[in-house]
Amino acid sequence: MRILVIGRGGREHAIAWKMAQSALKPEIFIAPGNVGMLSIAAQTNTQVKLVNIDETACEQLRDFALENHIDLTVVGPEAALACDIATVFRAAGLRIFAPTAAAARIESSKEFAKDLMHKYQIPTAAYRTFEDYDAAKQYLNEQGAPIVIKYDGLAAGKGVVVAMTMEEADNALKDMLLDNHFGKGKVVMEEFLQGPEFSLLTLVNGEQVVPLVIAQDHKRAYDGDKGPNTGGMGAYAPVPVIPQAQIDWAVEHIMKPTAKALVAEGCPFCGILYGGLMLTQDGPKVIEFNARFGDPETEVVLPKLKSDLAQLMLDILENKDVKAEFYDEAFLGVVLAAKGYPGSYTKNIPLNNPADVPQLVFCMGVKEENGQLYSNGGRVLFVVGKGKTLQEAKQDAYKGVEKMAHPDLFYRSDIGWQIKGS
Ligand code: AMP
Ligand code: GLY
Repeated sequence: MRILVIGRGGREHAIAWKMAQSALKPEIFIAPGNVGMLSIAAQTNTQVKLVNIDETACEQLRDFALENHIDLTVVGPEAALACDIATVFRAAGLRIFAPTAAAARIESSKEFAKDLMHKYQIPTAAYRTFEDYDAAKQYLNEQGAPIVIKYDGLAAGKGVVVAMTMEEADNALKDMLLDNHFGKGKVVMEEFLQGPEFSLLTLVNGEQVVPLVIAQDHKRAYDGDKGPNTGGMGAYAPVPVIPQAQIDWAVEHIMKPTAKALVAEGCPFCGILYGGLMLTQDGPKVIEFNARFGDPETEVVLPKLKSDLAQLMLDILENKDVKAEFYDEAFLGVVLAAKGYPGSYTKNIPLNNPADVPQLVFCMGVKEENGQLYSNGGRVLFVVGKGKTLQEAKQDAYKGVEKMAHPDLFYRSDIGWQIKGS
């Protein structure tokens, strides 16, 4: 069995690490990966190779997969989905666990996602779409603040403004529709919702939906959920603040109907359908969908997964009726980021050796020079603790974080603040 993982961050490190533990004894290839992922080989007694091909070079990746007889390809980043890697691979007869670009519009176009939810009555915030500043401004005057303004398209997590005042909202509209900050486009204006958020990742093929355990991300840069939005600064699983009955409801009334709707619309989904959900007073509602594994949610969800991930994906690709099973332990992980992130940040920070700490360390952005590991990106390392309870997992994680810390790295000290007693 030969498995190709596409991507280079902590998420792909976790996917490759989990794949390496499969009973199918796979050889693992990661394109392009990062040097920190090579530690998987020693940890799991598996062959792991980095392949120097960019994640968006779809034809090159296809040729590599053909020449090397890859049996299964798993895709991490959205950018690879956007260049329709799934269609390119399938046209060559290659097995890939990833959605087509048409199905991935559920993430890449907010308008597509909102219209789909509206048509199929999938619970989400009320919304309107605008291209014209004056019309958007008029709607703002009617609705008032707080209100949420989202750029319709990929904006690297920075295209969402939760405006608490009219002034903030108007500035966001000017920014997106008059100054074309993210390029010429549309905005979706949404009703402001409140409640705890959670990430529900599901493995999907057509109408088949296999839920994984939920996780909670921490999107703001600093303690107390302050500071700018980031790709995510920490995560944990399970999420006790969300009752199991609400998760089951979300699977039945959100994830399954969405998979069914994509089939009905002629763009069936195959891959990871990620619901970014909020438990409001009226039950779970969709904040956003992603068409891929979340980062850093994946780095806590996969350690908790007991099932063989490679086998699970192969079975789902054959539409076999399967369920995912999980360990009882709790997992909590903390991002160590370069000072300045998500703005311009310190580069080339020398790092301690992850192999020297007992905790799991997933490498998000690292490189090696003369045998020394350095940072290579804004989010650098993800340290995962485990325990019988989330409190224990948190203590364990921060022990590892302290050992990996450096004056040029920062981290949030309150990951898991919503856990009772923490
Ligand atoms: P998104 O990129 O759509 O996930 O939005 C980023 C963050 O903005 C979410 O994680 C929420 O915290 C917040 N957000 C997005 N939409 C809403 C909404 N309708 N009501 C309240 N908060 C929202
Ligand atoms: N952690 C949120 C995301 O992957 O988009």
